[in-house]
Amino acid sequence: MLGKKGRILSGHRPTGLLHIGHYEGTLRAWAAMQDDYDCFFEIADWHALTTGYDETATMPERIEQIAIDWMAAGLDPERSTLFVQSDVPEHAELFLLLGMVTPVSWLERCPTYKDQIANLRDIDGAGPGFGLLGYPVLQAADIVMYKANVVPVGEDQLPHLELTREIVRRFNNFFGGIFPEPEALLSDFAAVPGIDGRKMSKSYDNAINLADSVDEVAKKMKSMFTDPEKLRMGDPGHPDRCPVFTYQRMYNTPARVDEIKVQCESGELGCVKCKAEASERLLEAVGPIMQRRAELAADLGYVRQVLRDGAGKARAVAADTLAEVRAAMSLDSTS
Ligand code: TRP
Repeated sequence: MLGKKGRILSGHRPTGLLHIGHYEGTLRAWAAMQDDYDCFFEIADWHALTTGYDETATMPERIEQIAIDWMAAGLDPERSTLFVQSDVPEHAELFLLLGMVTPVSWLERCPTYKDQIANLRDIDGAGPGFGLLGYPVLQAADIVMYKANVVPVGEDQLPHLELTREIVRRFNNFFGGIFPEPEALLSDFAAVPGIDGRKMSKSYDNAINLADSVDEVAKKMKSMFTDPEKLRMGDPGHPDRCPVFTYQRMYNTPARVDEIKVQCESGELGCVKCKAEASERLLEAVGPIMQRRAELAADLGYVRQVLRDGAGKARAVAADTLAEVRAAMSLDSTS
């Protein structure tokens, strides 16, 4: 860790295939941080259970798929620790101990919890589980277990980071300054539009996945929503209302983007041609990731080995932290 800026922990629930919105919004930034920070990346399967405990049969496959997406996007097991949360049972003990100092009122007030209980499917009519209420405590345990000082996340996770900091302060107050207060690091990337022009999201069924083939990507780009006032070749367009233009800005050269803007507005450039060009540029940028993904998907033995090695490295750190916590809480009388 010498010479590095500190330690990072971040994670994601294994909820399904990742898309280019995840890549541009999160994974690209995580991959770029690996040289400067000592990085731990966690596949949070227990967190996925808080709302999906009736869907465990597909969990092993979802874990494998997200591991493949991560490695294809550049998370490098040689430089970072990639692991599955449930492979490190120490998280459960720290979750329990942090729970002792966490007031229930803090958890009930958490906006993500309030949102979940208002909007979530009720699995069997029994209402939200104890595990869901404790979600931020489990996340705090994930972070402080590794004494991470930086947590790169999306904006939706800020309430959880704030709770982590509050839990840390309360814990340190009672038991001594064991844990650093972690800082959230927000990625400033604007949302990537999906093929219907709304924010790209698995739940809108509008995503371009890292697991898609070149043909699927080209097909999706062809069907992308465009400026509704530009119906035929020759109609003047409004690039700022067009998701295809957002792709041009993301993946084309600045000089060409300026040209496209002028040619779209004058009506000279039609949507079909413009989409074909955007599609080509997109594939140049993410094609290598898709290629690497296909290679990894064909070598699941390697992927599983990476996760086993990662669990070993994570458990070594976790054991040290827990020994310290038990001693601070006088829970080590027989050790
Ligand atoms: N709650 C995060 C999400 O839904 C996943 C997560 C679990 C996480 N543990 C974490 C994120 C620790 C950052 C740090 O995406």
